[in-house]
Amino acid sequence: MTKNRFWRLDDHPQGDDFSSALSLQETELAPLQDGEIRLKADYLSMDAGTRMWMGPREDGYQPPLPMGIPMAGQALGRIVESRDDRFPVGRLVRVFGQWADYSTVRPDDSWAVLLDEDIDDPRQHFGVLGLNGWTALYGTKDILGVKEGENLVVSAAAGATGSLACQIGRNLGAKVTGIAGGPDKCRYVVEELGAERCIDYKNQDVAAELKKIDGGINAYFENVGGPILDAVLANMALFGRVAVCGMIANYESDEGVPGPKNYDQVLMRRLRIEGFLLPDVPERGPEYNALLKGWYQEGKITVPFDVTKGLENTLVAYSRMMTGKNTGKVIVDLTD
Ligand SMILES: NC(=O)c1ccc[n+]([C@@H]2O[C@H](COP(=O)([O-])OP(=O)(O)OC[C@H]3O[C@@H](n4cnc5c(N)ncnc54)[C@H](OP(=O)(O)O)[C@@H]3O)[C@@H](O)[C@H]2O)c1
Repeated sequence: MTKNRFWRLDDHPQGDDFSSALSLQETELAPLQDGEIRLKADYLSMDAGTRMWMGPREDGYQPPLPMGIPMAGQALGRIVESRDDRFPVGRLVRVFGQWADYSTVRPDDSWAVLLDEDIDDPRQHFGVLGLNGWTALYGTKDILGVKEGENLVVSAAAGATGSLACQIGRNLGAKVTGIAGGPDKCRYVVEELGAERCIDYKNQDVAAELKKIDGGINAYFENVGGPILDAVLANMALFGRVAVCGMIANYESDEGVPGPKNYDQVLMRRLRIEGFLLPDVPERGPEYNALLKGWYQEGKITVPFDVTKGLENTLVAYSRMMTGKNTGKVIVDLTD
């Protein structure tokens, strides 16, 4: 029998104390059921949105994860067993599986995608060609409808989704302003991602810096919420658009948080605010992949990886992302 190590969600985490809430377990793999596939993970993706799934809130976009189950998350690797003919053994696949050596899933319930191997770095299926790339494209192009010459602001700009949104905005001809934590990240956002400027929200007055944007903010790609959203609302252009991708500043709260002080600017400036969730549009994947792969191969978009080695160090990787130690996409490398 094959052993499988997995992270079990035992309790709702308090703040960013993940080690009290999750524990590494080991079990024997059960025989595969009809319709299931099993992959051996080469990489796990750390995704900030999963922090909401760990909490007790019932009013999220999906119910909270039950306690005592393997922690859910994206896994990428080769299929080692299959009882679904569409997913043959040996193929590279990405699924919503488990934080585990092996993920066992039903493809239709886990957004299983067979992956194109004509790419120099398979990890980009968690990056440019992964759900972060697709989300950044959906938000920037479809929800915000960013046009050439417009002022686009992106928060969490040095993270996975934000760094991709910055590059997509630049590729669409927008003038990009990033917001990120610390001078090193800001340097990266300007020098590597092609933003015109980057505001270091830990050391600068965000509202005062945003005020310098000539013509105001036409489009805001929101990843954060909290005081940054307030600073943005006060500096939007007339008829500006806000795409709410995420609100990471709120994810540790087990209750709703008060709305922005500057909410009245929605009326004053006739703003449109729209939340969006990539899993609402799974059918767009192939179209998004085609555009992003083209840009990637032309050198017009990329994402670096913040890599932690070993399943036993998964919580280290997760904490790095939730506390902003990462630049780019956080992954756990399980390759030998
Ligand atoms: N709607 C969707 O379908 C969808 C899909 C994927 C991701 N998302 C959202 O996209 C956002 C980014 O997620 P990701 O997985 O790509 O993670 P990420 O951006 O790679 O990592 C999270 C980043 O958030 C920043 N951050 C953390 N706490 C913060 C705070 N209190 N205030 C300001 N910034 C903070 C940190 O950067 P700093 O050092 O700059 O603080 C950190 O690097 C999240 O809100 C996530 O929920 C949404």
